[in-house]
Amino acid sequence: MRSRALDWSRKPDLYKKYPAGLERFTLEEPERSEGLPLYSAISLRRSVRDFKNRAVSESKLSQVLWASQGITSQSVSHQFRAAPSAGALYPVETYCLISRVDNLMSGIYHYQITDHKLTLLREGRFGQTLAGAALSQSLLAEASFVIIWSAIVERARWKYEQRVYRYIYLDAGHIAQNAALAAVSCGLSSCPIGAFFDDEVNKIIGIDGEKETVIYMIAIGEPE
Ligand SMILES: Cc1cc2nc3c(=O)[nH]c(=O)nc-3n(C[C@H](O)[C@H](O)[C@H](O)COP(=O)(O)O)c2cc1C
Repeated sequence: MRSRALDWSRKPDLYKKYPAGLERFTLEEPERSEGLPLYSAISLRRSVRDFKNRAVSESKLSQVLWASQGITSQSVSHQFRAAPSAGALYPVETYCLISRVDNLMSGIYHYQITDHKLTLLREGRFGQTLAGAALSQSLLAEASFVIIWSAIVERARWKYEQRVYRYIYLDAGHIAQNAALAAVSCGLSSCPIGAFFDDEVNKIIGIDGEKETVIYMIAIGEPE
């Protein structure tokens, strides 16, 4: 990349916004001091592929989402998130397929980072469809919830041009590890999922696969 002036007038918005009319759920305020200590969570984290067929509490879902990408500090002009991001451009968007979580109907949601809310995009049971889109990995249907991460490429390409994909994938790794450790910390288990057909997952969460495309997922539930 040659050094060049950035066109600030074209800087993309850092937050995806869905229409106001959609149903929204305010998640519980995240806990910032309880839970398993960090080193214990690191040593206990394993990829787990068998989950109990049981609902998890909404507070645990809230905790994992916040730890993955929630707002952790605010300056005059900028909100900083739980995971680092190249240039603080945060190209990764978070969706959640909920199968079994207390107080929340099954469906596909978008995580609204600014106010820690979930926007309901599609109501229904999509666990089997998601498993079908991921080489029949049945853990995706058995998990209480699956976080699906996409990238809005232009948000980071605006600054990083051809380096954009490297930075998107590095961002996603940070985010997913935060989610995995937060899951352990609140008594849940997880398995990262990179094997899936992009077009099929894009269709499930309703994104175009060009401007915005799926990059990674993590299945989460109570371990068997
Ligand atoms: C980028 C990435 C993609 C992965 N994709 C899958 C997957 O599609 N299915 C699966 O069962 N495990 C998947 N895993 C989990 C790995 O198999 C697992 O991390 C590895 O066996 C090491 O075990 P551990 O996570 O328990 O330490 C993936 C892990 C990573 C980092």
